This record gives sequence, C-alpha cells and structure tokens, in this order.
Amino acid sequence: MTSDVSVLLTGTTGYLGHEVAARLEALGIAFAGLGRAEGFDLGEPFSLEEVLDQVVEGLDAPPLLIHLAAMSRMDECEAEPERAFRTNAEATGVLASVLARSRGRVVYVSTDLVFDGENAPYTDDDEPRPTSIYGKSKAEGERMVLADSSGLVIRIPLLFGPSFDGKRGASDTVLAALGDARELRLFTDEWRTPLSVREAAEQIVALALDSTVTGIRHLPGPERLSRHELGVRSAEEAGLDPGAILEASRLEMPGPRRPCDVSLATTMSDQEGNQQDDEEVG
Ligand SMILES: NC(=O)c1ccc[n+]([C@@H]2O[C@H](COP(=O)([O-])OP(=O)(O)OC[C@H]3O[C@@H](n4cnc5c(N)ncnc54)[C@H](OP(=O)(O)O)[C@@H]3O)[C@@H](O)[C@H]2O)c1
Repeated sequence: MTSDVSVLLTGTTGYLGHEVAARLEALGIAFAGLGRAEGFDLGEPFSLEEVLDQVVEGLDAPPLLIHLAAMSRMDECEAEPERAFRTNAEATGVLASVLARSRGRVVYVSTDLVFDGENAPYTDDDEPRPTSIYGKSKAEGERMVLADSSGLVIRIPLLFGPSFDGKRGASDTVLAALGDARELRLFTDEWRTPLSVREAAEQIVALALDSTVTGIRHLPGPERLSRHELGVRSAEEAGLDPGAILEASRLEMPGPRRPCDVSLATTMSDQEGNQQDDEEVG
C-alpha cells in the first residue's frame, strides 16, 4: 500500500508500538520510528523540538505522527508527577506544535483512565475527569493534540494479548506470575472493556491513515470484564489453573482512588468512518 503521508511512530519499543509497527509493515507502509535511540526523549521537551524539526525537514510528504510513547505505568506517574506531566503532556504539546507548523497531523493514543469511573460506559463525547496523575497527564496531552483541527485522540482500554517480551499487557503479566508460582491478586471491583493489542493496532493504523477522522474516538473491547475475570480467562485459555488467582479489591490499594468502571463505548460506527451514529457499539 502506498501512503501520501510520511509516517512517524513513537513508542516502537513498547507493547502497543511493536504491534503498530508490525501492522504498518504488513500493509507495506514505510515509517520512521522515533525513540530514545534516535535522541528523541519525551522527558526533555526542549530538545525534542530540534530533533523533530530535523526529521520533518527531511520528509518528502506531510508528516503523520502516531504518538504512542508515554510514561504508561500508573505507579510511576504517582511517584514522579512532574516527570509524568513533562513526558505525557508537555512533550505532546511540543510535538503537536512542530506538526502543526509543517502541516502534519498528530494521532495521540490515550486511555480510558481519563475518566473517573463513576458514569460508565463512557462515549467519545464524555468529558474527562481523571483521578490519577497518569490520567491527568494523558488528558492534558489530549488537549494539546485537539488544539489543531487535524488532530485525533484515540482512547483505548486495557490491552491484552501476547507481548514481545512476555511481560506486558493484562494477559502476559498474569501468565508470567502463574508460571513463576508468584501470588497473584486481581481486582473483582474494577471494570474495563479490554481489547486485544493486535485489534487495537489494526484500528489505530486504519484511523490514523484516514485524515477525515479527527477529534476523539474510543476503541472499546467487545465486553465489560473485571480485572479478575480477565485474569481467569487468560489463565484458562493458556491451560493454566485459574484457582491460583486470588480476589482483591481496588479499595485496598494505597494512593489515589482507582476508578471503579471505565468501560468505553463509542458513538461512531466502524462502517461509517467519522459519521455520527446514534447506536452505541462495543
Ligand atoms: N497497555 C495498555 O493496556 C494501555 C491502555 C490504555 C492506553 N495505553 C496507552 O498506549 C500507549 C502505549 O502503551 P504501551 O502499553 O505500549 O506502553 P509501554 O509498553 O510501557 O511502552 C511505552 C513506550 O513509550 C516509550 N517512552 C517512555 N518514556 C519515553 C521517553 N521519555 N522518551 C521517549 N520514549 C519514551 C518507551 O520507550 P523505552 O522503551 O525507551 O522506555 C516505550 O516505547 C501509551 O500512550 C499508553 O498511555 C496503553
């Protein structure tokens, strides 16, 4: 497939980044990965501008930046809030301004954790009300991208499915713990609409390449599951004993209150691109 844009991709060394890169490769779409190895550090927003300007100058088509890289762990964001805002929000603002200057488009992958969990399911039109530093920093990043009319924010739920290192995502972390006979306690009172990482990657690439899709899109998984239900299912599918998975409550966790139910829904139909559809799907 040929593309009339030059695709740039951040987060290629991460869980979702591996799948998005594989999807682009499968479609025959060339892309440039931007990561720390290329001197691209989101923790240093001032140097980012120079690095990205140089990359963009060398392109022969308008840039499309699929921005996945983030400080993605809630506990790390709570421990280092300044770094979380610098990485997830401030740096996103720098990227968005460079892309706007070069008539490019930013597609920013965000999270169901921009919601407080009190009014699920959340559609694309619902206002974010994050409770955690991670959610707040991602919501701030969203605002930076939406300031340009070509920008797209794709909110994804908890991802599951095989990871490149066997240690990431909601299912591999369960399988790794069970394989090592480590104690595993999963919440019975926290609900999401989990999505397979491969499906997420396919949908992100399709939406990113369609320049008519702008604003906010949700990618809900097919059903609402608690973390415990998802863990048990992952174990059973791998032929492991789910009896070793203990029940836990999110209320036992230290730190900010975790949202109870951040299930996503969408007001958009897959078939109708960015046309409004009254029926909720997912
Ligand atoms: N996984 C999920 O269930 C889930 C759910 C909702 C939303 N998301 C969103 O999806 C995106 C991808 O998540 P993921 O699960 O793939 O995360 P991940 O496996 O933790 O990967 C994070 C990626 O971000 C890069 N990164 C982190 N800090 C950076 C920095 N300072 N400068 C440059 N690159 C940096 C990492 O590069 P290094 O390898 O160099 O550290 C890595 O490539 C994130 O935006 C996340 O908020 C994920």
